[in-house]
Amino acid sequence: MKIAIMGFGVVGSGVGEVVTKNREMLIKKCGEPIEIAHILDLRDFPDSEFKCFTKDFNDILNDPEVGIVVETMGGTKPAYEFSKQLLLAGKSVITSNKELVAAHGTELMQIARERNLNYLFEASVGGGIPIIRPMFSCLTAGEATDVFGILNGTTNYILTQMFQKGESFENALRAAQQKGYAEADPTADVEGHDTCRKIAILSALAFGNEVKTDRIPTEGITKISAADVAYAEKLGYSIKLIGHATKAEDGGVYAAVFPAFVPKTNPLAGINDVFNGIIVKGDDLGDVMFYGRGAGKLPTANAVVADVVDAIKHQGVNIIIKWNEYKEENQSDGKLQKYPYYVRFEGGRVSGLEGCTVVVFNDEEYRDEFAVLTNALTGDELEAFIKAAEEKGCKAVSKLRLIGE
Ligand code: HSE
Repeated sequence: MKIAIMGFGVVGSGVGEVVTKNREMLIKKCGEPIEIAHILDLRDFPDSEFKCFTKDFNDILNDPEVGIVVETMGGTKPAYEFSKQLLLAGKSVITSNKELVAAHGTELMQIARERNLNYLFEASVGGGIPIIRPMFSCLTAGEATDVFGILNGTTNYILTQMFQKGESFENALRAAQQKGYAEADPTADVEGHDTCRKIAILSALAFGNEVKTDRIPTEGITKISAADVAYAEKLGYSIKLIGHATKAEDGGVYAAVFPAFVPKTNPLAGINDVFNGIIVKGDDLGDVMFYGRGAGKLPTANAVVADVVDAIKHQGVNIIIKWNEYKEENQSDGKLQKYPYYVRFEGGRVSGLEGCTVVVFNDEEYRDEFAVLTNALTGDELEAFIKAAEEKGCKAVSKLRLIGE
């Protein structure tokens, strides 16, 4: 099988490495050698062992011998147009590009389905963790109720380095970039957009319908302070960036991204560094958990190459992935969704707050402040709670959701 790679960055070059290193083993697994015929990238790689670089997409599109194309370019432009043209030309496409899958996956899967091709994206969520296939295959017999995930290796690495090892945000981010974990623009990691795309993909797989990322409330990790971490520790929690998708009270699916207090008794609390963890809750199933390296060259490249092998084994056969097109009523805005909250107040301690547990430190450093853990509240109820507290003379400086055990 001749394949092509579009985008020779961290993941694309990892794919080249894995295909070369594991050549003999891969022949046994798919019954034929995998030959890399073209590598598309605008940069030059004079020292690379590969001699098939091109800057012209048409070299891939018009090569009738190329049946599978790996898209590891990232972003939607030009990855969307390229992927669409390739599928329309009869080539299967394998991607690690979560932004593209979240934005245009519905259409690209539809084109693949109509042509008995495959558009596969195991590497788009959780790096090397097998999560996409279990979601559309092994877990299909029952109804999912919730998906909770630590889905971004960079932010989990940063949180671990900062709050367990005392590193600064800047140094931790730089190290994550050097290790090849971060996006080209790491804002996508630290502001939660990468997690947003991944929970959109998991939500579509778990509940069967596309959700729109611009309707997923998304908050990153930049506002978390050392004081929040101190309160979390005191109370037996870790702080993690969580993607959550759940069946909402109003019948739709509610997906959101937020830094959360996670009790140490929840296995997600113990997931550190670049590792990701995903818990899927089902009605018959109870809890299932997936764990592994969520970013990095070779773990992610392994997931891509496994998809290539699957596409070779399924030539002429579309692997059915239940993923219906977006309908507004299928996505909830979460108005009725309740979470307990941690809220930290500065400007003095007040009394008479109802529906919460009050937490104080005796240290001098925290003398003029306190925090509360509230009962489960909707967003509107939380705002009313904070307003009532602030009328007593304090000021809310941070609020984070709590997730359960
Ligand atoms: N920047 C992403 C992360 C890469 O840190 O998880 C893997 O999708």
